[in-house]
Amino acid sequence: MRKPILAGNWKMNNNIEESIELVKKLTRQEYPVDRDIVICPPFTALYAVGELIEDTRIKLGAQNIFFENKGAFTGEISPLMLKDLGVEYVIVGHSERRQFFNETDETINLKVKAAQGHDMIPILCVGESLAQREGQIAENIVKQQLLGGLKDISDAMASKLVLAYEPIWAIGTGRTATSQQANEMIAYIRSILSQIFGEDKAQEIRIQYGGSVKPENITDLMKQPDIDGALVGGASLQAEDFQKIINYQENK
Ligand code: 13P
Repeated sequence: MRKPILAGNWKMNNNIEESIELVKKLTRQEYPVDRDIVICPPFTALYAVGELIEDTRIKLGAQNIFFENKGAFTGEISPLMLKDLGVEYVIVGHSERRQFFNETDETINLKVKAAQGHDMIPILCVGESLAQREGQIAENIVKQQLLGGLKDISDAMASKLVLAYEPIWAIGTGRTATSQQANEMIAYIRSILSQIFGEDKAQEIRIQYGGSVKPENITDLMKQPDIDGALVGGASLQAEDFQKIINYQENK
């Protein structure tokens, strides 16, 4: 049984005060113990948020990582710095980073390894654009991203990995993939993971869906057999909405 994992990606939103306010609301509630909860604030709020969620069910995640430990890399944040802040999860290869910051499968692969090498769990994001889906090459694109991003990751490290399927056309657009569409691609991702790591490992690895996840569609998404959680953007900025998403009714 894979433990569901609900993660909030705040993206480039919330200053320190706003972050504290949001986290205080989130920590006021108890959540079902059968699921993991992660929030990924911007770097500037990691310290403040980390202090507030210590000893709670909510885990700290970062939105990016650099793959060198230290040195002349102006503007980058190293794995050691994230560890220092108590970060346990790192989003790697988000489509916004691929699109706006030219991240490639090669650098994404280095980031996956850097996170795992420092005992943090990468949330590796994959997903196709609308043109790629319409051109019927969505599966090929996702496969390429998986093979590139997971190159030379050992079977042992496969247990320290979360995947997120985020079709670009569903991010921030209000246009969610139907739960069937999401499940189909996630099942396909699992089949590729099985080719890479073997069937047993593939059955262990959690794969989230991301793209316009809301309180209204989470239940349906989580009903699907291969969907193990959600990576939530916009709706994770509203405490009530994110709480409703975390508290979805178990229904598999
Ligand atoms: P939205 O939930 O705002 O569509 O964002 C999804 C996402 O990109 C999460 O990483």
